[in-house]
Amino acid sequence: MGIDHRVLILGATGRTGGCALTQLLERGVPVRAIVRSAARLPEGSVGNPLLEVVEADVLALPTEVLAEHLAGCDTVISCLGHTISVRGVLGPPHDLVGQAVRLVRDAVDTSQRKQSAAGQPAAPVRLILMSSVSVNQPERADARRGRGERAYMWGMRALVPPARDNQRAADFLVHEVGPADANLQWVIVRPDTLTEGAVAEYRVHEALVSSLFKPDSTRMSEVAHFMCELATDDATWKRWRSRMPVIVDAQPPA
Ligand SMILES: NC(=O)c1ccc[n+]([C@@H]2O[C@H](COP(=O)([O-])OP(=O)(O)OC[C@H]3O[C@@H](n4cnc5c(N)ncnc54)[C@H](OP(=O)(O)O)[C@@H]3O)[C@@H](O)[C@H]2O)c1
Repeated sequence: MGIDHRVLILGATGRTGGCALTQLLERGVPVRAIVRSAARLPEGSVGNPLLEVVEADVLALPTEVLAEHLAGCDTVISCLGHTISVRGVLGPPHDLVGQAVRLVRDAVDTSQRKQSAAGQPAAPVRLILMSSVSVNQPERADARRGRGERAYMWGMRALVPPARDNQRAADFLVHEVGPADANLQWVIVRPDTLTEGAVAEYRVHEALVSSLFKPDSTRMSEVAHFMCELATDDATWKRWRSRMPVIVDAQPPA
């Protein structure tokens, strides 16, 4: 990575986003966090010289402003998610993750255009999106998902906005941005049921390994660890670029 290696993180006040922020800082990575309230950031992070906090509602930011916040960042991590409450799940914004991903893509394009105009062509920005095993890969690449499960998920997406949002955000990256975009590269990380606990042994798979009806578990700290590896290790990035890896605990928690 070049000297401009800095990560822009969205959702750093959340459970997994907080772990990702803490681990990035522990690795010495400079981070810019856009959060609605700095008071909800993980303990000990505020005041760390590696952390710059922007207090704003990311969905309300004009593209130009988000492009300015991207300055010097070669990677964006999104751990945004609908708050688990009746209002969070059923209330607006129904397309939190999808809107944020589109905004990032527009801001990256704006930022890259400006840099080219100034004679400073930049490398593509890398987006690491936290998603879920409920999200399908294209072309039925998740061979494990049988007809009954697909029908169940179809119903979930029709009834539960966050399920639909996560699928649409992934579809946008897969189908509209695609694998060969000049400005934006991506990895969609799909954990199973999220649990607490320190990083242990975990596995990263190309496709689903278990059924939604018999789920695996994934520690949030491990999702954060894998995201940090993607953000800091070129070989890991190249291995998973334009893919939708599934991450699960090697051993389920006792
Ligand atoms: N629960 C599971 O078992 C599971 C399994 C697999 C995948 N996932 C997915 O993983 C992702 C993260 O999950 P999590 O449990 O770590 O998240 P979380 O703790 O609920 O955190 C959500 C984050 O999103 C932010 N956010 C929520 N609504 C927002 C809005 N309207 N505008 C701006 N920011 C907003 C929150 O900010 P504030 O602090 O400001 O509210 C917070 O930083 C979600 O997309 C979820 O679908 C969950």
